[in-house]
Amino acid sequence: MKKTIRDIDVSGKKVLVRCDFNVPQDENGNITDIRRIQGALPTIRYLIDNNAKVILCSHLGRPKGEVKKEFSLLPVQKELSKELGIEVKLADDIVGKSAKELTKNMKEREVVLLENVRFDKREEANDKELSKELASLADIYVNDAFGTAHRAHSSTAGVSEFLPSVSGFLIEKEIKFLGEALNNPERPFVSIIGGKKVSDKISVINNLLEKVDVLIIGGGMAYTFLKSEGLNIGKSICEEDKIDLAKELIEKAKEKNVKLLLPVDIKVAKEFSNEAESKVVAVDEIEDEWEGMDIGPKTIEEYKNILESAKTIMWNGPLGVFEFDNFAYGTNKIAEILANSNAITIIGGGDSAAAIEKAGYADKMTHISTGGGASLEFLEGKKLPGIECLLEK
Ligand code: 3PG
Repeated sequence: MKKTIRDIDVSGKKVLVRCDFNVPQDENGNITDIRRIQGALPTIRYLIDNNAKVILCSHLGRPKGEVKKEFSLLPVQKELSKELGIEVKLADDIVGKSAKELTKNMKEREVVLLENVRFDKREEANDKELSKELASLADIYVNDAFGTAHRAHSSTAGVSEFLPSVSGFLIEKEIKFLGEALNNPERPFVSIIGGKKVSDKISVINNLLEKVDVLIIGGGMAYTFLKSEGLNIGKSICEEDKIDLAKELIEKAKEKNVKLLLPVDIKVAKEFSNEAESKVVAVDEIEDEWEGMDIGPKTIEEYKNILESAKTIMWNGPLGVFEFDNFAYGTNKIAEILANSNAITIIGGGDSAAAIEKAGYADKMTHISTGGGASLEFLEGKKLPGIECLLEK
């Protein structure tokens, strides 16, 4: 168990908080999804309420060590000021003149945001000097950037060498829900794994086969599994070099007594577009010119029966091409089933979180992870450097 901000005295102290404010923006720089900002608020509010001097830092995008206006944290500063109801000051740099000036004589309850840490090329190199310079701004380091906890960078891990380091409430919450589901789930434990590629999720599937009672496979990766069972999948997405692996995973599921479910019917289309001609066919009736775009109604019914008896459900990855409204039905229907379920429902970030949000069921889930890559690595059973570096209780 890692120490959190509850376990240390923050009053009057300068506290450097690494957040993940890597939020999506439209072409005009407007933030299109503020969940990551909202996720950081409990920690920031706690620090303000407990008279800390709060110094926030984050990356945004991948500016590759260069100062680029489109990657500035200015829109985040505006949103934070609005959410917190105080003026959050934005430094022009990370550890330079502006950051030093703004953080030097801070008053208690004041909040300063440093500019994008990735404007400094030393950040991603986990450079010791940058870590030291960051540490010199503060008395305590708090990591609350769950979404970036799989990166060993100066601001996510390196800095912990030079300051007492604890976790914020978001990281605490993510570890609680993702960790408990993996290590001590209420059973039956059902996991739904979707997304395009088997290769992205091999390690997750491997790890989950050690933990779950039922594994439901959907999305683009299902076709590699179906092909490994000798079925014709037409033009559906398939990773030829992963067919043997899919076979092995099916075998492993049998050995582990895990029920592995694949779609039994598919909504196929003539081409990859929302307007494409489409029809529902059984998995063994996919013709050469057609490609799988979504799970079919019989599959949804079958998955529904299983999900209704689950006590813990973990979902990662959409079940069809949900970006196209005409092929989002399966993903939305599964989201609806989870929304009406009494089970603990955990959504593993990235596209599945976006799908749940789009379907309007976000507030019906027990936990939606703010991590994309980070939650995948957590589900793979890997240790995340941004969490490992924090003090034990
Ligand atoms: C994410 O969006 O997954 C995190 O913010 C990490 O970003 P990165 O993949 O650019 O390191």
